[in-house]
Amino acid sequence: MDKQIEKLLNDQVKFEADASMQYLAMASWADENGYNGIADFFYKQSEEERLHMTKLVKFINERSGKVLIPQLDKPKSDYSSINELFEAFLASEMFVTQQVNHVIHECLQHKDYNVHNFMQWYVTEQLEEEATARTLLDKLNIIGSDKSGHYLFDRDINQITAVTPEE
Ligand code: FEO
Repeated sequence: MDKQIEKLLNDQVKFEADASMQYLAMASWADENGYNGIADFFYKQSEEERLHMTKLVKFINERSGKVLIPQLDKPKSDYSSINELFEAFLASEMFVTQQVNHVIHECLQHKDYNVHNFMQWYVTEQLEEEATARTLLDKLNIIGSDKSGHYLFDRDINQITAVTPEE
């Protein structure tokens, strides 16, 4: 495997792992503050990001590359509101999308069509996750600071996220 592509894939391992830990911290914050629906949502997101990370680790090994399990950034653990929480969620997903696009761009430069093909799964995944984050943030912007609105949002979050943008 091209050394530069290998490094980019290892960077991506870290970004996915950072997202997993960030969402775990978000879940824990939500749990602590009585938002059980939001906590469940982020516990699940954290698990998903862990799978994204593992998929990369396995792929690098299959291609006889060298995996470097990274040291992670300390996740942010305090939020002033659930609006801030979901703004951070969208920002995190947008960052990951940007990095996925960067890997794909470099694959084309290096003519590594195998990795390029593998990364398409992440493109689709990011589209879905960004759409979910935007949908949730749109709802929160409608609700504003209304406490009963937050109560209903927390209660209904799984139904909101079950609706895909195509539906
Ligand atoms: Fe796997 Fe949503 O980053």
